[in-house]
Amino acid sequence: MRWLAEVLLVLPLAGSVHAAQIPFHLKSTASKEAELSLPVDVTSTNWDLNVKPSVNSTSHLIFDTVSAFLQHWPNTRYRNGHNLVPGIVPVGTLLYHGRGDSNLPTVPEWTATDPEHANAFCRGSQETGCWQVTLVSTRPLNVLYFDGSSAAKMKGGPMDTQDIVAWRKLIPEWMFNEGRRLADLCVWGQKFGVDGFVRMEMDFEIMLCDFTVGVDVVSFLNLVSNGRGPRGGGGGSPGGPGGPPPGGPPGKDSMEGPSPADPSASTDAFSEVIHSGSWHNRYPGETRIQLDLARMISFYDTSLVPSLVPYRFNQERWFHRLEGVSDDDISAVMDRLEQAMQTAHGGESGVDWTTLVHVIVDRYGDRLEMVQYLLNSTGSPDSDGLRAAKRVQTQLKVMVQPYQLHSVVPPSLPSDDHSWASPIFKLCATTHTSYIAKNKLTRSEHLILESIDETNREICRVVTRMWAQGVVAGLDDAPTPMKLEDSPSSDLLPQWKTQINDLMAWLDWSVWVKCRPDCGFEEYCYLPTWPFFGRGGGGPPGRGPNSPGGPGQPPTRFLEDVDDWEKPQPRCIRKIEPFDM
Ligand SMILES: *[C@@H]1O[C@H](CO)[C@@H](O)[C@H](O)[C@H]1NC(C)=O
Ligand SMILES: *[C@@H]1O[C@H](CO)[C@@H](O)[C@H](O)[C@H]1NC(C)=O
Repeated sequence: MRWLAEVLLVLPLAGSVHAAQIPFHLKSTASKEAELSLPVDVTSTNWDLNVKPSVNSTSHLIFDTVSAFLQHWPNTRYRNGHNLVPGIVPVGTLLYHGRGDSNLPTVPEWTATDPEHANAFCRGSQETGCWQVTLVSTRPLNVLYFDGSSAAKMKGGPMDTQDIVAWRKLIPEWMFNEGRRLADLCVWGQKFGVDGFVRMEMDFEIMLCDFTVGVDVVSFLNLVSNGRGPRGGGGGSPGGPGGPPPGGPPGKDSMEGPSPADPSASTDAFSEVIHSGSWHNRYPGETRIQLDLARMISFYDTSLVPSLVPYRFNQERWFHRLEGVSDDDISAVMDRLEQAMQTAHGGESGVDWTTLVHVIVDRYGDRLEMVQYLLNSTGSPDSDGLRAAKRVQTQLKVMVQPYQLHSVVPPSLPSDDHSWASPIFKLCATTHTSYIAKNKLTRSEHLILESIDETNREICRVVTRMWAQGVVAGLDDAPTPMKLEDSPSSDLLPQWKTQINDLMAWLDWSVWVKCRPDCGFEEYCYLPTWPFFGRGGGGPPGRGPNSPGGPGQPPTRFLEDVDDWEKPQPRCIRKIEPFDM
């Protein structure tokens, strides 16, 4: 339709906004001057409302992982980390280490950010008690963060990024070789002044390379032990407890210590680790670690790590991991990482990427969910289609409103061509980032910017398109709305449903994953995580949990359905006794 193109070229001259109100067919006389004052590039095919992102795009995944850093919930849901992020632990941060003797570690060892987590490893006999070391950072500690459930000793990918940094290849057989892994990470990091490594399991931990550097001992307390005594022997579930890792225990009361399969050592201590981990569930998460996104390296970066593209093709996100990464790509990643480790903390651009990402999640998270909710309730024979459609249109309109240029006028006849709304799409898609000076960005920041732009663009594309469809169907403030059933758009509701579901599936934000209905006051919403998996393991080979298989059982309230560990789903569990209800 030629007239549509004309409408698009007609935008207001300065001081003549009323001109834009005249019906579109009178606007074809627009002057060249008006064209020059176009605020947006409407002729670009880039702003086609029908063009979806490539199937191999990882922008939404980079966006989502960046938005999830240091938060327990999303990193429990997707266990396989894809990012290496340098950061610091500020001066004056307390770190806790539980053990069975009164010796300060002389080798790399584990510390927890919450004493609840360390306490689970404070184990001794009733006569001797156990020991808890509290450290404080005396200068900013340089750390490297592995995202995902990077301390979950599980097959299937949670430890992949660490293997690459420690050994430059994946060594699944060394999954439980925690002492070796930490020692080798520290040897690598020594050249760059790395003090420790940040990981997550039930809660966050910092593996410290040297307990005498950059930290002071605040206290070394002999506490009442709630465990059965220092470990050594006894079969528990792999990784932790019980059996020392092959090659000897790194430190006999390391964080990798206690067995959830040891009921006397676990019940109370472990429920409180789950509890303290839950404090960091949602943004801003664990704030005692400050990441430097200007130095982030991502295995979802398809230009840095092209070899993983075919491995992710047609693969559900749960199963994305680093298996299959080429040696060339590993070298490229390690070069980038080593450069990053030698660069000062904080990018020159000054852009607060984490906040920017969360501005977008905040603006659209609950609104998209509301649209989906309203559409979910349509489709049954007795539902009032027109009323539902108008309510949806109102939600779409509030999302579009900040970009609804006065000059953009919909066609007066129903049409499937929505290109008249392209200026709104473009403004919406560029509004958060168009000011950013690209010449000041690091490569990592370019990657994040690209992921924000592509993610925001897809949100804006779908929302603008749905809104435009509603406008054309007469749902938007039309003085005499068509009856939806009579209009040519009576298939609008199912079309909208597909569009919102596709968008939300693509974005896949963890803010939408919650217990429905809400949990009671004595419960919390919980996602199954290592090491609390079902008895006897099971499940497909290679992706299974570490089946306990040893004597003893984890607290029964944490036992998971076998189906749940591969694709963790939220559930309410009790916070206080009685647990088995
Ligand atoms: C996506 O990646 C797969 C696997 O590498 C490739 O076969 C396919 O052509 C790619 N598709 C597009 C649209 O780039
Ligand atoms: C809409 O329905 C789908 C499918 O049953 C469900 O997964 C989703 O959570 C629902 N969304 C809302 C917001 O209720």
